[in-house]
Amino acid sequence: MVVGGFGGVDGPVGSFSGKITLSVVITCIVAASSGLIFGYDIGISGGVTTMQPFLQKFFPSVLRKAAEAKTNTYCVYDSQVLTSFTSSLYIAGLVASLSASRLTAKIGRRNTMMLGGLTFFAGAAVNGGAANVAMLIIGRILLGFGVGFTNQATPVYLSEVAPPKWRGAFNTGFQFFIGIGVLAANCINFVTAKRSWGWRLSLGLAVVPAVIMTMGALFISDTPSSLIQRGKMEHARHSLRKVRGKDCDVEPELAELKMASGIAKEANQEPFVTIFERQYRPHLVMSIAIPFFQQLTGINIIAFYAPVLFQSVGFGNDSALIAAIILGSVNLASIVVSAGVVDQFGRKFLFMEGGIQMFVSQVGVAVVLAVTTGVSGTKEISKGYAILVLVLMCMYAAGFGWSWGPLSWLVPSEIFPIKIRPTGQSISVAVNFATTFVLSQTFLTMLCHFKYGTFLFYAAWNALMTIFVVLFLPETKGIPLDCMNSVWEKHWYWRRFVTG
Ligand code: BGC
Repeated sequence: MVVGGFGGVDGPVGSFSGKITLSVVITCIVAASSGLIFGYDIGISGGVTTMQPFLQKFFPSVLRKAAEAKTNTYCVYDSQVLTSFTSSLYIAGLVASLSASRLTAKIGRRNTMMLGGLTFFAGAAVNGGAANVAMLIIGRILLGFGVGFTNQATPVYLSEVAPPKWRGAFNTGFQFFIGIGVLAANCINFVTAKRSWGWRLSLGLAVVPAVIMTMGALFISDTPSSLIQRGKMEHARHSLRKVRGKDCDVEPELAELKMASGIAKEANQEPFVTIFERQYRPHLVMSIAIPFFQQLTGINIIAFYAPVLFQSVGFGNDSALIAAIILGSVNLASIVVSAGVVDQFGRKFLFMEGGIQMFVSQVGVAVVLAVTTGVSGTKEISKGYAILVLVLMCMYAAGFGWSWGPLSWLVPSEIFPIKIRPTGQSISVAVNFATTFVLSQTFLTMLCHFKYGTFLFYAAWNALMTIFVVLFLPETKGIPLDCMNSVWEKHWYWRRFVTG
């Protein structure tokens, strides 16, 4: 559907879509700050699970094992109980993100974000005051519900509010705030690790990002599309005027959104059924493949376990956390680079470049570890080589930061027509969490058995996903959401599904 002066796939973007106003920038920054809670959790859990007093209180068997396992650097933290602490969040998040599809359609994107913030707040409070493992797990389940809701609603919010020409840059804000959350958490862990009750502070301080994002969400209005869908026409007009600027004639865009919403209502079918129709096969495949591949880049083995990893390859306690902070900063800087180029170079280019860069770094890490720690991982790694591992990991973090990091939130949120957009995003978040769960549950055992080969395993996946992008991902930069069908119609493979 090409309405309102929009061009074709590479044509100019229509007159009612392109302007960047201060209001849209502020609105999107506030919305994107929802990424803080997810990032904080990712950053904090890796560090907390290496803190002695935390392990002593909740997982003493891990400490006993660490004392015995001096001979093999890869196996120190291999404990199913410990990993289930980290990954219980992802099971809860999976359930929440699937129910969030209906929720965002009913109560709107913004309210879902707020609900996520409040639930996360509750989880942080329970975890900060935890007296036993049960409280820890309950807290993590609440945190999981929180990020399940916000990760579903926020990318959709950003894609719907951003001017299409700059949608990539605006949407990248979400990953940027995830990165800030990770980095802040790493810095906090660095300080708290030195105190016996430090783990409590680390876990409890998660209330801070929750308050920031929930308060922020209070001040923004819902997206015009979501308001129209919920029959709030006047409110939608007001919201659109606010983000597009006072002098802008918003009526043509409003009419366009109304039409898209009208079509959505007419269909009035169960979205979880609609999404399985043949014509949505390409969309569905992308919403599953992209988050699945994102996790198989191996990012969470680095994000969750960077401190564990550096400690077990020979860095001391402090240097392990410093290394994690360095990685976090590199990641953050590369997300800024992504925001700057994603709407010029396009999504496909960044996906490909990032994939190759991550492949090369992981092969590098595997080779260095194999050569220095020996095939069985029993030799100590020298300081010089440990630094080389860090440099290679920085190269990896940069590759992820400008490609699969932000784009895995962006692409699923921009390819679906409005009637199944929340559902598509829900599936995408659920796949992300399910894959994270499986990988984080198995990573430490894998590291223990495959040793440096673990990195080759992820390198192979990076090669595979890069080929997938080359063959199957169409370019979506600059295309207004309502005209997105054209990209599939022109694609050599997918066109057979969307036409006729
Ligand atoms: C991923 C997370 C990852 C984080 C790292 C996100 O986009 O979904 O799994 O831990 O980026 O910053």
